Amino acid sequence: MLEKTGAAVKGPLRVVVMVSGGGTNLQAIIDSVKDGTITNTQIVGVISNNKNAYALKRAAENRIPSSCVSPKDFESRSIFNEKLLEEVDSYRPDLVVLAGFLVVIPPEMIRKYENRIINIHPSLIPSFCGKGCYGLKVHEAALARGAKVSGATVHFVDEGTDTGPIFLQKAVEVRQDDTPELLQRRVMEQAEWQLLPRAIDLIANGRVKVEDNRTVILEQQKTE
Ligand code: GAR
Repeated sequence: MLEKTGAAVKGPLRVVVMVSGGGTNLQAIIDSVKDGTITNTQIVGVISNNKNAYALKRAAENRIPSSCVSPKDFESRSIFNEKLLEEVDSYRPDLVVLAGFLVVIPPEMIRKYENRIINIHPSLIPSFCGKGCYGLKVHEAALARGAKVSGATVHFVDEGTDTGPIFLQKAVEVRQDDTPELLQRRVMEQAEWQLLPRAIDLIANGRVKVEDNRTVILEQQKTE
């Protein structure tokens, strides 16, 4: 869909959001669909790996269908992977958004949904990313290294960890007296909650294509 033409899908973009925790990024997407910052988009489902995720409450409050698929409920990783893919497929999504989903995505799913899965990561990739670097740990690592600038990245998901084509990035200042929690909050407020809605809107309006592990953002079509 996106790779060759960047053309808009017919009808609203069907989006599934995958979550593990608080779901503030999910909330930013919900609010942006409501206020028109994201156009041409329907959130058709929310999937969590954690039944206690507050993100599931946000889905329910907004009458968005949701489900939980936890690795703990299956005998093996391969059975979990199968069930997770079945669950995603059941929503017939055009786009899968990983919004703080902290489980490794099955390779079969990455192949099936090539260039149709995006992830938000709370740093400027390629800094402070990769295996084991997620959530608060990212900000701990940035502070430990003495970085003066951090930020967030939206990227397409490939089979590596945080290695797919970079789509959008925004820098955020690191302050001298930051704690990981303060930096996390600033990165969310100043970068994540804007980038992820913008990424979805660009895709929903056919304005991004992926070429040679890079993304190209297309000019907005003029309407007369
Ligand atoms: C966000 O900061 C997101 O960037 C991060 O988890 C948090 C989820 O918060 N994701 C990663 O670290 C992925 N590598 P939320 O549940 O409030 O949206």
